[in-house]
Amino acid sequence: MIDIHCHILPGLDDGAANETIALEMAQQAVAEGITAIVATPHHRNRHWQNPKANVLQHVAQLNETLKEHAIPLTILPGQEVRLFGEMAEPDQQAELLTVNNSGNYLLVEFPTMQVPQYASQLFFNLQTNGVTPVIVHPERNQVFLDHPDRLYQFINEGALAQITAASLIGKSGNKVQKRSRQFLENQLAHFVASDAHNVTQRPFYRQAAQAYIEKEYGFQMIEQLNQNAEQLVQGKQIPREQPTAIKEKKFFGLF
Ligand SMILES: [Fe+2]
Repeated sequence: MIDIHCHILPGLDDGAANETIALEMAQQAVAEGITAIVATPHHRNRHWQNPKANVLQHVAQLNETLKEHAIPLTILPGQEVRLFGEMAEPDQQAELLTVNNSGNYLLVEFPTMQVPQYASQLFFNLQTNGVTPVIVHPERNQVFLDHPDRLYQFINEGALAQITAASLIGKSGNKVQKRSRQFLENQLAHFVASDAHNVTQRPFYRQAAQAYIEKEYGFQMIEQLNQNAEQLVQGKQIPREQPTAIKEKKFFGLF
């Protein structure tokens, strides 16, 4: 199993604080059946800058350390880029790191409380450059949470989305779980990933999510999600079905 979103690189952001914690995370990942992790440190987030060259160097280093400790896990390079207006400009491309450096998919994080107006045009520009944006954890964005039709618009225009294992199994509350389920059920999410930051407060929950998905949706859904993750890291096309807009029930009248 591949985990496409994880803050395992030590000392770069609010993920693994040091190498010891990174190794604990690696061991937990292996125990949960994960064979490869896309390391996705924050970039352009207000606190952290982790340009491409920096990430590539740290990925190589952690792979060496894992080998020394005989931990059977491969780290692939990636980034979680906070949405910014110049993201699709040619002079930014040297700093941005696509998933597994394939050039085809970029993990994009929206600000927690907003979906900026410029995002749609920006995504169009990215896609014109051959880069498909993957919206990470839309279920944790207040606008997508309150107005899931806004996510439909982006997916319908060609973006992909990843929900977080913890959200799906209810660790972030009922509303976030409900939206996560709806996004999966309506072809509005294409990946489930851990977004793990450590082994305690924000662990992997991949086994728990696998069990949940199998119980709720059947094994075929697990296979589909795993296949999507494989295709993503290989930079290949991801099979997708037409998304469906989520209709919110509206209540009229007096109760
Ligand atoms: Fe993240």
